[in-house]
Amino acid sequence: MDFHATMKAQAERATDALRQFISALPFQNTPLVETMHYGTLLGGKRLRPFLVYATGEMFGVAPQALDAPAAAIECIHAYSLMHDDLPAMDDDDLRRGQPTCHIKYGEASAILAGDALQTLAFSILSDASMPGVALADRLSLVSELALASGVAGMCGGQALDLEAEGKQVSLDVLERIHRHKTGALIRAAVRMGALCAGEPGRDVLPILDRYAESIGLAFQVQDDILDVVGDTATLGKRQGADQHLGKSTYPALLGLEQAREKAQALCDDALAALRELSSKQMDTRTLEALATYIIQRDK
Ligand code: IPE
Ligand code: IPE
Ligand code: MG
Ligand code: MG
Ligand code: MG
Repeated sequence: MDFHATMKAQAERATDALRQFISALPFQNTPLVETMHYGTLLGGKRLRPFLVYATGEMFGVAPQALDAPAAAIECIHAYSLMHDDLPAMDDDDLRRGQPTCHIKYGEASAILAGDALQTLAFSILSDASMPGVALADRLSLVSELALASGVAGMCGGQALDLEAEGKQVSLDVLERIHRHKTGALIRAAVRMGALCAGEPGRDVLPILDRYAESIGLAFQVQDDILDVVGDTATLGKRQGADQHLGKSTYPALLGLEQAREKAQALCDDALAALRELSSKQMDTRTLEALATYIIQRDK
Protein backbone atom coordinates (compact mmCIF):
# COMPACT_ATOMS: atom_id res chain seq x y z
CA MET A 1 0.00 0.00 0.00
CA ASP A 2 1.29 3.48 -0.73
CA PHE A 3 1.61 6.06 2.02
CA HIS A 4 -1.68 7.88 1.39
CA ALA A 5 -3.66 4.64 1.22
CA THR A 6 -2.05 3.50 4.49
CA MET A 7 -2.86 6.80 6.11
CA LYS A 8 -6.48 6.59 4.98
CA ALA A 9 -6.85 3.02 6.24
CA GLN A 10 -5.35 3.88 9.63
CA ALA A 11 -7.57 6.96 9.91
CA GLU A 12 -10.63 4.80 9.33
CA ARG A 13 -9.42 2.31 11.87
CA ALA A 14 -8.90 5.03 14.47
CA THR A 15 -12.31 6.54 13.72
CA ASP A 16 -13.98 3.15 14.22
CA ALA A 17 -12.23 2.71 17.55
CA LEU A 18 -13.23 6.21 18.67
CA ARG A 19 -16.82 5.64 17.60
CA GLN A 20 -16.99 2.44 19.63
CA PHE A 21 -15.64 4.08 22.77
CA ILE A 22 -17.93 7.09 22.53
CA SER A 23 -20.97 4.99 21.61
CA ALA A 24 -20.47 2.93 24.78
CA LEU A 25 -20.96 5.99 26.99
CA PRO A 26 -24.23 6.71 28.79
CA PHE A 27 -26.41 9.73 27.82
CA GLN A 28 -26.29 9.09 24.04
CA ASN A 29 -28.43 11.59 22.10
CA THR A 30 -27.92 14.34 24.66
CA PRO A 31 -26.15 17.57 23.69
CA LEU A 32 -23.08 16.53 25.69
CA VAL A 33 -22.51 13.21 23.95
CA GLU A 34 -23.65 14.49 20.55
CA THR A 35 -21.00 17.18 20.82
CA MET A 36 -18.43 14.50 21.58
CA HIS A 37 -19.44 12.54 18.46
CA TYR A 38 -19.45 15.69 16.33
CA GLY A 39 -16.12 17.03 17.52
CA THR A 40 -14.23 13.75 17.21
CA LEU A 41 -15.72 11.72 14.37
CA LEU A 42 -16.38 14.20 11.56
CA GLY A 43 -13.21 14.86 9.61
CA GLY A 44 -9.68 15.27 10.90
CA LYS A 45 -6.47 13.78 9.57
CA ARG A 46 -5.95 11.45 12.55
CA LEU A 47 -2.23 12.22 12.47
CA ARG A 48 -1.61 11.29 16.11
CA PRO A 49 -3.33 7.88 15.85
CA PHE A 50 -1.38 7.30 12.65
CA LEU A 51 1.86 7.89 14.54
CA VAL A 52 0.80 5.44 17.25
CA TYR A 53 0.03 2.75 14.65
CA ALA A 54 3.08 3.41 12.47
CA THR A 55 5.50 3.41 15.40
CA GLY A 56 3.94 0.42 17.15
CA GLU A 57 3.85 -1.63 13.98
CA MET A 58 7.52 -0.88 13.37
CA PHE A 59 8.16 -2.96 16.51
CA GLY A 60 5.72 -5.67 15.46
CA VAL A 61 2.89 -4.64 17.80
CA ALA A 62 -0.52 -5.84 16.55
CA PRO A 63 -2.94 -3.09 15.48
CA GLN A 64 -5.54 -4.44 17.93
CA ALA A 65 -3.19 -3.49 20.76
CA LEU A 66 -2.74 0.01 19.33
CA ASP A 67 -6.42 0.95 18.94
CA ALA A 68 -6.73 2.07 22.56
CA PRO A 69 -3.72 4.42 22.65
CA ALA A 70 -4.61 5.70 19.16
CA ALA A 71 -8.16 6.55 20.25
CA ALA A 72 -7.03 7.96 23.59
CA ILE A 73 -4.61 10.46 22.08
CA GLU A 74 -7.18 11.53 19.48
CA CYS A 75 -9.66 12.20 22.32
CA ILE A 76 -7.16 14.61 23.86
CA HIS A 77 -6.48 16.22 20.49
CA ALA A 78 -10.20 16.64 19.70
CA TYR A 79 -10.80 18.17 23.12
CA SER A 80 -7.88 20.56 22.61
CA LEU A 81 -9.45 21.74 19.32
CA MET A 82 -12.92 22.21 20.88
CA HIS A 83 -11.45 24.40 23.56
CA ASP A 84 -8.97 26.12 21.19
CA ASP A 85 -11.92 27.32 19.09
CA LEU A 86 -13.89 28.80 22.02
CA PRO A 87 -14.44 32.56 22.16
CA ALA A 88 -12.09 32.80 25.16
CA MET A 89 -9.29 31.31 23.07
CA ASP A 90 -9.08 31.58 19.26
CA ASP A 91 -12.79 32.33 18.74
CA ASP A 92 -13.12 30.33 15.53
CA ASP A 93 -16.39 29.38 13.82
CA LEU A 94 -15.12 26.81 11.30
CA ARG A 95 -13.30 23.51 11.91
CA ARG A 96 -12.93 20.50 9.64
CA GLY A 97 -15.23 22.23 7.16
CA GLN A 98 -18.10 22.57 9.63
CA PRO A 99 -19.28 24.98 12.32
CA THR A 100 -17.13 24.65 15.44
CA CYS A 101 -18.62 22.76 18.41
CA HIS A 102 -19.62 25.86 20.37
CA ILE A 103 -21.31 27.40 17.32
CA LYS A 104 -23.28 24.23 16.71
CA TYR A 105 -24.03 23.11 20.29
CA GLY A 106 -23.26 26.13 22.49
CA GLU A 107 -20.30 26.98 24.67
CA ALA A 108 -21.33 24.92 27.68
CA SER A 109 -21.56 21.74 25.59
CA ALA A 110 -18.23 22.46 23.90
CA ILE A 111 -16.55 22.93 27.28
CA LEU A 112 -18.13 19.86 28.85
CA ALA A 113 -17.59 17.65 25.81
CA GLY A 114 -13.91 18.62 25.92
CA ASP A 115 -13.72 17.85 29.63
CA ALA A 116 -15.42 14.48 29.10
CA LEU A 117 -13.12 13.59 26.19
CA GLN A 118 -10.13 14.30 28.36
CA THR A 119 -11.23 11.82 31.03
CA LEU A 120 -12.42 9.35 28.38
CA ALA A 121 -8.85 9.23 27.08
CA PHE A 122 -7.63 7.97 30.45
CA SER A 123 -10.53 5.55 30.89
CA ILE A 124 -9.60 4.02 27.54
CA LEU A 125 -5.93 3.70 28.46
CA SER A 126 -6.80 2.17 31.83
CA ASP A 127 -9.60 -0.19 30.85
CA ALA A 128 -9.63 -1.04 27.14
CA SER A 129 -8.28 -4.30 25.78
CA MET A 130 -4.62 -4.11 24.71
CA PRO A 131 -3.60 -7.68 23.90
CA GLY A 132 0.05 -8.40 24.65
CA VAL A 133 0.78 -5.06 26.35
CA ALA A 134 2.22 -5.46 29.87
CA LEU A 135 0.54 -3.66 32.77
CA ALA A 136 3.70 -1.66 33.50
CA ASP A 137 3.73 -0.43 29.90
CA ARG A 138 0.05 0.49 30.12
CA LEU A 139 0.88 2.61 33.15
CA SER A 140 3.63 4.32 31.16
CA LEU A 141 1.09 5.15 28.46
CA VAL A 142 -1.12 6.86 31.04
CA SER A 143 1.85 8.80 32.34
CA GLU A 144 3.00 9.85 28.85
CA LEU A 145 -0.39 11.11 27.80
CA ALA A 146 -1.02 12.95 31.05
CA LEU A 147 2.33 14.69 30.89
CA ALA A 148 1.95 15.70 27.25
CA SER A 149 -1.58 17.02 27.79
CA GLY A 150 -1.08 19.15 30.87
CA VAL A 151 0.99 22.12 32.00
CA ALA A 152 4.25 20.52 30.80
CA GLY A 153 2.69 19.98 27.38
CA MET A 154 -0.39 21.09 25.44
CA CYS A 155 -2.14 23.20 28.10
CA GLY A 156 1.10 24.94 29.01
CA GLY A 157 1.72 25.71 25.35
CA GLN A 158 -1.81 26.98 24.79
CA ALA A 159 -1.39 29.38 27.71
CA LEU A 160 1.89 30.67 26.27
CA ASP A 161 0.25 31.01 22.84
CA LEU A 162 -2.53 33.22 24.23
CA GLU A 163 -0.06 35.28 26.22
CA ALA A 164 1.95 35.94 23.05
CA GLU A 165 -1.01 37.34 21.08
CA GLY A 166 -0.37 40.82 19.77
CA LYS A 167 3.28 40.71 20.84
CA GLN A 168 6.58 40.39 19.05
CA VAL A 169 8.20 37.42 20.80
CA SER A 170 11.71 36.04 20.30
CA LEU A 171 12.31 32.95 18.19
CA ASP A 172 13.14 31.00 21.38
CA VAL A 173 9.80 31.88 22.92
CA LEU A 174 7.94 30.99 19.73
CA GLU A 175 9.69 27.65 19.59
CA ARG A 176 8.76 26.98 23.22
CA ILE A 177 5.09 27.74 22.45
CA HIS A 178 5.00 25.39 19.47
CA ARG A 179 6.94 22.58 21.10
CA HIS A 180 4.44 22.56 23.94
CA LYS A 181 1.06 23.31 22.36
CA THR A 182 1.52 20.92 19.43
CA GLY A 183 4.86 19.15 19.73
CA ALA A 184 4.18 17.47 23.06
CA LEU A 185 1.19 15.42 21.86
CA ILE A 186 2.94 14.43 18.64
CA ARG A 187 5.95 13.27 20.63
CA ALA A 188 3.65 11.36 22.98
CA ALA A 189 1.99 9.61 20.03
CA VAL A 190 5.34 8.23 18.86
CA ARG A 191 6.42 7.28 22.38
CA MET A 192 3.11 5.56 23.08
CA GLY A 193 3.43 3.43 19.96
CA ALA A 194 6.92 2.39 21.05
CA LEU A 195 5.93 1.75 24.67
CA CYS A 196 3.32 -0.78 23.57
CA ALA A 197 6.27 -2.91 22.43
CA GLY A 198 7.92 -2.92 25.88
CA GLU A 199 11.71 -3.18 26.10
CA PRO A 200 12.58 -2.97 22.36
CA GLY A 201 10.57 0.24 22.14
CA ARG A 202 12.00 1.76 25.30
CA ASP A 203 15.55 1.07 24.10
CA VAL A 204 15.25 3.49 21.20
CA LEU A 205 13.09 6.20 22.81
CA PRO A 206 15.89 8.81 22.64
CA ILE A 207 16.16 8.36 18.86
CA LEU A 208 12.39 8.38 18.45
CA ASP A 209 12.22 11.57 20.53
CA ARG A 210 14.55 13.32 18.10
CA TYR A 211 12.35 12.26 15.21
CA ALA A 212 9.12 13.19 16.98
CA GLU A 213 10.31 16.54 18.31
CA SER A 214 11.41 17.54 14.81
CA ILE A 215 8.16 16.56 13.09
CA GLY A 216 6.13 18.01 15.97
CA LEU A 217 7.63 21.45 15.54
CA ALA A 218 7.54 21.12 11.74
CA PHE A 219 3.84 20.29 11.93
CA GLN A 220 3.02 23.55 13.70
CA VAL A 221 5.35 25.58 11.44
CA GLN A 222 3.42 24.18 8.47
CA ASP A 223 0.10 24.91 10.24
CA ASP A 224 1.28 28.53 10.58
CA ILE A 225 2.34 28.63 6.91
CA LEU A 226 -1.03 27.25 5.79
CA ASP A 227 -2.79 30.00 7.74
CA VAL A 228 -1.09 32.40 5.31
CA VAL A 229 -1.02 30.50 2.01
CA GLY A 230 -3.81 27.93 2.39
CA ASP A 231 -7.42 28.34 1.38
CA THR A 232 -10.39 28.02 3.69
CA ALA A 233 -12.17 25.35 1.63
CA THR A 234 -9.16 23.01 1.63
CA LEU A 235 -8.12 23.73 5.21
CA GLY A 236 -11.63 23.37 6.59
CA LYS A 237 -10.76 26.26 8.93
CA ARG A 238 -10.52 29.98 8.25
CA GLN A 239 -7.39 31.06 6.41
CA GLY A 240 -5.90 34.21 7.94
CA ALA A 241 -7.19 33.54 11.47
CA ASP A 242 -3.70 33.90 12.99
CA GLN A 243 -3.07 37.25 11.34
CA HIS A 244 -6.50 38.43 12.48
CA LEU A 245 -5.63 37.66 16.12
CA GLY A 246 -2.04 38.88 15.94
CA LYS A 247 -0.76 35.40 16.77
CA SER A 248 2.94 34.75 17.15
CA THR A 249 3.74 32.43 14.26
CA TYR A 250 6.77 31.44 12.18
CA PRO A 251 5.71 33.38 9.06
CA ALA A 252 4.89 36.42 11.21
CA LEU A 253 8.32 36.37 12.84
CA LEU A 254 10.56 35.10 10.04
CA GLY A 255 8.59 35.67 6.84
CA LEU A 256 7.22 32.92 4.63
CA GLU A 257 10.46 31.94 2.95
CA GLN A 258 12.41 31.41 6.17
CA ALA A 259 9.47 29.64 7.74
CA ARG A 260 9.53 27.19 4.83
CA GLU A 261 13.29 26.71 5.25
CA LYS A 262 12.75 26.01 8.94
CA ALA A 263 10.14 23.35 8.15
CA GLN A 264 12.50 21.72 5.64
CA ALA A 265 15.42 21.75 8.10
CA LEU A 266 13.24 20.10 10.75
CA CYS A 267 12.15 17.45 8.25
CA ASP A 268 15.82 16.77 7.46
CA ASP A 269 16.57 16.40 11.20
CA ALA A 270 13.72 13.92 11.52
CA LEU A 271 15.04 11.87 8.60
CA ALA A 272 18.54 11.87 10.11
CA ALA A 273 17.16 10.42 13.35
CA LEU A 274 15.40 7.69 11.38
CA ARG A 275 18.64 6.70 9.66
CA GLU A 276 19.93 5.64 13.08
CA LEU A 277 16.97 3.32 13.41
CA SER A 278 17.32 1.87 9.93
CA SER A 279 20.95 1.07 10.74
CA LYS A 280 19.44 -1.15 13.47
CA GLN A 281 17.48 -3.04 10.79
CA MET A 282 14.20 -1.27 11.52
CA ASP A 283 11.80 -0.48 8.69
CA THR A 284 11.37 3.28 8.96
CA ARG A 285 9.76 3.90 5.56
CA THR A 286 6.34 4.89 6.86
CA LEU A 287 7.76 7.35 9.38
CA GLU A 288 10.01 8.78 6.66
CA ALA A 289 7.08 9.36 4.33
CA LEU A 290 5.18 10.97 7.18
CA ALA A 291 7.95 13.50 7.87
CA THR A 292 7.83 14.62 4.25
CA TYR A 293 4.04 14.67 4.18
CA ILE A 294 3.94 16.95 7.22
CA ILE A 295 5.78 19.78 5.48
CA GLN A 296 4.14 19.26 2.09
CA ARG A 297 0.50 18.93 3.17
CA ASP A 298 -2.04 21.53 2.13
CA LYS A 299 -4.50 20.88 4.97
C1 IPE B 1 -4.69 21.28 14.22
O1 IPE B 1 -4.33 19.93 14.23
C2 IPE B 1 -4.17 21.93 15.45
C3 IPE B 1 -2.73 21.87 15.57
C4 IPE B 1 -2.15 21.28 16.55
C5 IPE B 1 -1.90 22.51 14.57
P1 IPE B 1 -4.57 19.00 12.98
O2 IPE B 1 -4.10 19.71 11.76
O3 IPE B 1 -3.99 17.66 13.27
O4 IPE B 1 -6.16 18.92 12.94
P2 IPE B 1 -7.13 17.78 12.38
O5 IPE B 1 -7.25 16.78 13.47
O6 IPE B 1 -6.53 17.19 11.14
O7 IPE B 1 -8.42 18.48 12.13
C1 IPE C 1 -3.69 24.75 18.27
O1 IPE C 1 -2.91 25.56 17.49
C2 IPE C 1 -2.90 23.80 19.04
C3 IPE C 1 -3.78 23.08 19.97
C4 IPE C 1 -3.32 22.63 21.08
C5 IPE C 1 -5.18 22.82 19.66
P1 IPE C 1 -3.75 26.47 16.50
O2 IPE C 1 -4.66 27.38 17.24
O3 IPE C 1 -2.79 27.04 15.52
O4 IPE C 1 -4.63 25.36 15.76
P2 IPE C 1 -5.70 25.70 14.63
O5 IPE C 1 -4.95 26.45 13.56
O6 IPE C 1 -6.79 26.49 15.27
O7 IPE C 1 -6.13 24.35 14.15
MG1 MG D 1 -4.75 28.25 19.12
MG1 MG E 1 -6.74 27.81 16.77
MG1 MG F 1 -3.16 27.25 13.46
